[in-house]
Amino acid sequence: MSVAPLNGPRLLQITDTHLYADPDAVHAGVVPERRFRAVLAALSPWLADAQAILHSGDLVHDGTLAAYQRLHSALGALERPGRVIPGNHDDREALGSVFASGPISAARTLVVGDWTLIGLDSLQPGRVTGALADDELVALDAALAAMTTPWCLIAVHHPPVPVGTPWLDALGLEQPEPLLQRIDADPRIRAVLSGHVHTASSARRHGCRMLTTPATAAQFLAGAERFTTDPGAPGFRWLDLRADGGIDTSVVRVPMD
Ligand SMILES: [Fe+2]
Repeated sequence: MSVAPLNGPRLLQITDTHLYADPDAVHAGVVPERRFRAVLAALSPWLADAQAILHSGDLVHDGTLAAYQRLHSALGALERPGRVIPGNHDDREALGSVFASGPISAARTLVVGDWTLIGLDSLQPGRVTGALADDELVALDAALAAMTTPWCLIAVHHPPVPVGTPWLDALGLEQPEPLLQRIDADPRIRAVLSGHVHTASSARRHGCRMLTTPATAAQFLAGAERFTTDPGAPGFRWLDLRADGGIDTSVVRVPMD
């Protein structure tokens, strides 16, 4: 796919890299490191027009510092500011230590043109499902109150609405109502960006886009009743954040040999 014409500050989203300390490790029938590197290579022509990067969780699969450090180095080499949020496979402490500060970090917010990206932590240690603790909701309210831009994106690893894949929908965000109430009440929130489901999906909730993005690692079969991988290609998402609050976005798939 050729690079789309730019229509506002461009954000590039990758998700679910599932890296291991051992770069040759296999997960769900693929080598996550190899796929991640292929997606990075495909991302390269999009970088010239990109202002920011988002990684929406499951940075690593084994919780090791070595894997986080390798990812941090690779994302840093993109030379764009970015934010990372934890997924269910992440180790909050290890992720927080490696991404504590700097251009690519786990900081709460990032301003991209007329937009503020707000990251939320839905990790529940030892569980596949996600949840937003009370202090995350308090932090969200504080970030919304402090916003200096007209528009906002929320990043949360676990999708707060079903994506149409029953086994994954049973493993999404527990008790999403407080988040959804805030989305419904605040027209500045224009999109929720998630990972977790290893497949692309797009829905709307009133004026808010609800988007998931393919993993750079293994793909899951959309619509499956139970765990089923999909031989499809990994990918990433680009989003052009328009001044009028609209978003132009699409997923780019990266065919593997
Ligand atoms: Fe994942």
